[in-house]
Amino acid sequence: MSPSHPPFRVLFSRDTILRRVHELARAIQDDLQAAGATTPPCLVSVIEGARPFARLLQQVLPGQLPVYEVRASSYGRGTVSSGQVAVSGAERIPVQGQHVLLLEDIVDTGRTIAALRARFLGDGARSCRVATLLSKPSRRVVEVPLDYTGFEIPDEFVLGFGMDLDGRYRELPDVVIYDPEVERSFRGAAAATGGA
Ligand code: IMP
Repeated sequence: MSPSHPPFRVLFSRDTILRRVHELARAIQDDLQAAGATTPPCLVSVIEGARPFARLLQQVLPGQLPVYEVRASSYGRGTVSSGQVAVSGAERIPVQGQHVLLLEDIVDTGRTIAALRARFLGDGARSCRVATLLSKPSRRVVEVPLDYTGFEIPDEFVLGFGMDLDGRYRELPDVVIYDPEVERSFRGAAAATGGA
């Protein structure tokens, strides 16, 4: 059977991601215990990209905490950030007096997380921490504190495990590096054989 997607280079396999998310969950729990937290954090996932990461964390953290979702988009189309962050759905999340833990797939320029932290703190959250699966420190434009980071990566555009390019490749189980050349030759080969 021919593969259904281009053979992009795998940066982190699903197994590696699972292991790291377990470590992050342990660190989150340790910090909560050390702080003597009496209430669980209010988990807020930045959709759509962070959904798989948030789902995993939810499964691994005790108590099946609810995960609220907020939509934020700084990418219009393609791989270049527009610089503008549009937020929707934040008004439905009861953050007042809560310790918010923002769950993000990848922090790039930092604009999205900066905008969301400002929003939730402005809405009365007691604190707003950030857990991100991936971070590209070399791309930062706005300095944001990242409390829990799965992996730091170089300046590459990545896909899979929730992350997409104009809606494509989100469902890939691994995190892969996008390569337009690999995509072009895959499509060319598929077209020649009458495939996708
Ligand atoms: P920031 O506001 O520049 O930090 O961008 C964060 C958002 O941009 C993420 O939530 C992703 O949706 C998107 N993004 C940034 N880098 C990548 C990438 O390499 N692949 C897929 N999406 C990305």
